[in-house]
Amino acid sequence: MTRSVIAGIGSYVPPRVVSNDDLAGLMATSDEWIRMRSGIEERRFADEGVYCSDLALEAARNALADAHLEPTDLDFIILATLSPDHHFPGAACFLQAKLGVPSIGCLDVRNQCTGFIYGLAVGDAFIRTGMYRHILVVGSELHSSALNFSDEGRDVAVLFGDGAGAVVLASSMEQDRGVLYTELHADGRFAKALHMDVWNISRKPYLTHESIDSGEIWPQMDGKTVFKHAVIRMAELVTNALNQCNLQPEDIKYVIPHQANMRINQLVAERLGFGQTKFLSNIQKYGNTTAASIPLLLDEAYRAGKFQRGDLLLLVAFGSGFTWASTVVRW
Ligand code: UT7
Repeated sequence: MTRSVIAGIGSYVPPRVVSNDDLAGLMATSDEWIRMRSGIEERRFADEGVYCSDLALEAARNALADAHLEPTDLDFIILATLSPDHHFPGAACFLQAKLGVPSIGCLDVRNQCTGFIYGLAVGDAFIRTGMYRHILVVGSELHSSALNFSDEGRDVAVLFGDGAGAVVLASSMEQDRGVLYTELHADGRFAKALHMDVWNISRKPYLTHESIDSGEIWPQMDGKTVFKHAVIRMAELVTNALNQCNLQPEDIKYVIPHQANMRINQLVAERLGFGQTKFLSNIQKYGNTTAASIPLLLDEAYRAGKFQRGDLLLLVAFGSGFTWASTVVRW
């Protein structure tokens, strides 16, 4: 049976570091509040003129170099993002042009914080059917231009940062490596608990001066509802993956959770009786980078030598949609 293995991994964050104190200069917040409530100390913001596909391009190049492959070796591109370059066409098309590989298929995945895991699942399915051999899966976000840095937007604006992470999935006949298990969920009844309208396509015209002034262009979040569901669903995902794969907690080298809030991941670890060190984190440095957070964390841990070939990793995410998803990967 053909399986998908991660043949290469890479990430990229823009160079500009924005501290909590920098944000406190823009709105009524403080370093203490942000650290206590989320664990975030700083994040990266891209400069004016940088697109989501530009961050994706850097991460993709790093992943391709790690895989010792060229862009022309790719058969397909999947880009997960909630901050695409434009409303249409998809950001994956822009990434494809920047990579210089015209004519291969491209797909945008719009599943927010779980976008990377959904993207991996789609890529894995294509590879298992034998349709493609090398698929680039990227999570990339450019949040900083769509955050409301006034007091009204402070609950959301302090949490998010820009960045990208990518993997190259490759087909392999090795049976005990690569993507071993995937679980995907959504519950659209909670779609408005964390959403950004920008415009309303049922209105003619879809965008007006009044709608901009009313603030519907900014993300809106019911933080407490998201937090509560995240803890429950992420714990469920870990338990399900262990049961379905017939694994014990000690079989998993690391859980690589989506980085939305340090307190969410600490509560999930506590609820499961896992030691906190089993759950990796880098939210302190990058904030919540949505679809990029898992590949960014995975790449950082890989480069730090935290896991080796043969180690089992459990990727779990929860976010807007609501969507939640997990994947078990043997490195
Ligand atoms: O990627 C997945 C999506 N996102 C998430 O998973 C986020 C989930 N939710 C959360 O992480 C948390 O709910 C937050 C970090 C957003 C908020 O933490 P909280 O402990 O739920 O705080 P809260 O919303 O209850 O707010 C407490 C207080 C409020 O003031 P009052 O009403 O007690 O006077 C807020 O107005 O903190 C105030 N507040 C702030 N104060 C300083 C809200 N945002 C800020 C801020 N700085 N940035």
